Amino acid sequence: EKQGLQVAIDGPASAGKSTVAKIVATRFHYIYCDTGAMYRAITWKVLQAGVALDDEAAVKQLLDSITIRFEPGEPVQKVFVDQTDVTLAIRQPDVTNSVSAVSALPAVRKELTARQRTIADAGKIVMDGRDIGSTVLPDAEVKIFLVASVDERAQRRLKDNAAKGITTPLATLKHEIEERDRKDSTRKVSPLTQAADAIRLDTTSMSIDQVADKIAEIIKEKESL
Ligand code: CDP
Ligand code: CDP
Repeated sequence: EKQGLQVAIDGPASAGKSTVAKIVATRFHYIYCDTGAMYRAITWKVLQAGVALDDEAAVKQLLDSITIRFEPGEPVQKVFVDQTDVTLAIRQPDVTNSVSAVSALPAVRKELTARQRTIADAGKIVMDGRDIGSTVLPDAEVKIFLVASVDERAQRRLKDNAAKGITTPLATLKHEIEERDRKDSTRKVSPLTQAADAIRLDTTSMSIDQVADKIAEIIKEKESL
């Protein structure tokens, strides 16, 4: 049962969703849920177990056997699969390049959507992903669709990766982002799409703070209603 205002932030890869969602959640004292991290976590587990990415029954069984947990952390929340801290592992290229295949499996989407709704039931929430405004929280009062040019997104990811010691070249990153967007947008179950009532924000030439301030303004308006 819904307990408070819901903020859904969706958009393509590396548009700045999680960075901005976390800032906004902290500012308003909302719970923050990074749904991409949940899809990455099951993908990490699938790779660890050596299960085929398209073996839906085996992947679902694996998902049913694990817990995915968040813990507060700086600069990013920590992510745990059972007792293992996978915060760094789920950002590695092997997971990044396999996650769209796993997230396309209907049984995986159904299960993670249910877990995400349970998290949202706890109170006021900012949730970011691909299908939050369209599928997971269709009644969210605030729906934001963040976009930026693919060149800008590849540049952002390059900087982000450098800080993590990942050295994938810019051209490869751009290609990987385009591929992931294509797969995420064309899958059958809850593809990446802008909800009809979402506000589209092109962040190509906006700073993180400008984007966070803009979303904060929109939340304040809704909170005062
Ligand atoms: O941060 P980045 O843009 O790399 O992606 P993410 O938010 O960590 O999401 C990783 C992948 O999970 C996406 O490319 C999608 O395949 C999948 N995903 C999804 O299918 N639905 C969501 N609500 C969130 C992520
Ligand atoms: O969650 P998503 O994949 O959409 O993106 P992110 O991981 O939040 O952001 C990717 C990178 O872009 C991060 O290093 C952010 O600091 C950076 N960023 C930026 O430079 N300008 C913005 N307006 C938003 C994010």
